[in-house]
Parts: sequence; C-alpha cells; structure tokens
Amino acid sequence: MDGNGRWARQRGKKRVMGHKAGMERARGVAEYCSEQGVKVLTLFAFSSENWQRPQEEVSFLMDLFATSLNNESKKLHKNNVRLRIIGDHGRFDPALRQAIDKAEALTGDNDGLTLLIAANYGGRWDILQAARRLAEAGKEMTEASLAGQLTTSGCPEPDLVIRTGGEMRISNFLLWQSAYSELYFAEELWPDFDEDAMARALGEFARRERRFGKTGEQLKS
Ligand code: FPP
Repeated sequence: MDGNGRWARQRGKKRVMGHKAGMERARGVAEYCSEQGVKVLTLFAFSSENWQRPQEEVSFLMDLFATSLNNESKKLHKNNVRLRIIGDHGRFDPALRQAIDKAEALTGDNDGLTLLIAANYGGRWDILQAARRLAEAGKEMTEASLAGQLTTSGCPEPDLVIRTGGEMRISNFLLWQSAYSELYFAEELWPDFDEDAMARALGEFARRERRFGKTGEQLKS
C-alpha cells in the first residue's frame, strides 16, 4: 500500500493524513475483494524496516492500527471475514497485542475472505523464523515443511501481488510465497487505488498466462 505520504504532501497535508486516507482505502479494497470472491487478501501495512520512520509517524500508525482493530473487528466478524495479523508481534505494546489476539479469536472461525494484515513483517524474517522453528523441533527441512511454518501457513500462495505508488520493488514482502505470483505495479498512490483501479489489476491478471516453468505449448495441450 505505497504512496500514502506522497498523496498527503500533494494536498499540503501531513504524511500521517495519507495513512488515515490509506486506512479507509484498505477498508474499501477489502470490501471489494470480498464481493469479487477473492479468498485471501494480504495488505502490507507496516514493514520490519518502517520502525526507522520518524517517531511521530510510527506512533500514529500504531495508534491507527489499534483503533482500527478495536473499531472494525465486530464489522469484519459480521461480514464473515477471518482476520490474521502476520509479522513479529513481539515489538508491539501490550494493548496492541491484546487487540490483535482478541480480533483474531473473534473472527478465527469465519470462512469468508481471509484478510491478512502484514505488520512488523519482513519476508526474510518470515523465512528465518520458519527455519528456526524447524531446526528447534529437529524436523527435516523441505519446501513443504518450511512453507508449513511460515506465517501464511494454511493460505494459498498469492496469485497476484500489487504494488501501488509507481515503485517497482518487492521491498521484502512475501518473498518465499510470491515465487510464482504475477506482479502488478500501479501508478496510483494507495489512497487513490479505487475499485476501478483494482478491477484493472484483476483484469490484467486474468489475461496473463501462468506457466509455472512449463512451455506455452504444454499448457495448451
Ligand atoms: C506506505 O506509504 C504505507 C505505509 C508504510 C503504511 C500503510 C498503512 C496504512 C494504509 C494504514 C494502516 C492500515 C492497516 C490495515 C492497519 P508511504 O508512507 O511509504 O508513502 P510514500 O512512498 O508516498 O512516502
């Protein structure tokens, strides 16, 4: 969800106002995906590297996260959404950790859209914590066993990864899980990434040929 800061600056506002608008857009995109029958949506809300931002911005994002969890989880539950927060929860303050646990417990049995929020998340961290868990349990390391220890275990690998805001980087997102994902880079800044923009991304995805290492001819036969 890149581009919140620029969106705010373009309007002469503080960067954090872009995050507020970004939160509203996240809600809109989640509703749209739910209506479109998307099974799993992962939003990259806060990376392991984002702690390096100015203290005021970090605090604002943490408060926004906690307030949104507290205010939205009942509505998510009513809409049959299962919420999971992936990332290292260890650095969050106890009140935020409690809000996460409560929201996950409330929505845990829902079978509509699975909404993963990546917060204090890094793709390298995810692979490393999975490998450590296997090593500590003395288990064999295979692709399947490692995937089973990632924070996304039980979810399919992403079909489509969208980055807004015009940059063409993965920035330590789902590194293992996106090995065969289609990548889509949108010029729109995240708060402007509306339903039409999302529909364009899904339309482009539908036109892609996914070969998974095979040839185009093999897929047609
Ligand atoms: C990147 O834009 C955005 C973030 C680091 C924060 C994203 C957070 C939200 C959308 C709100 C919280 C949402 C949830 C679901 C908890 P940027 O600030 O790097 O933008 P820039 O590149 O224009 O500076």
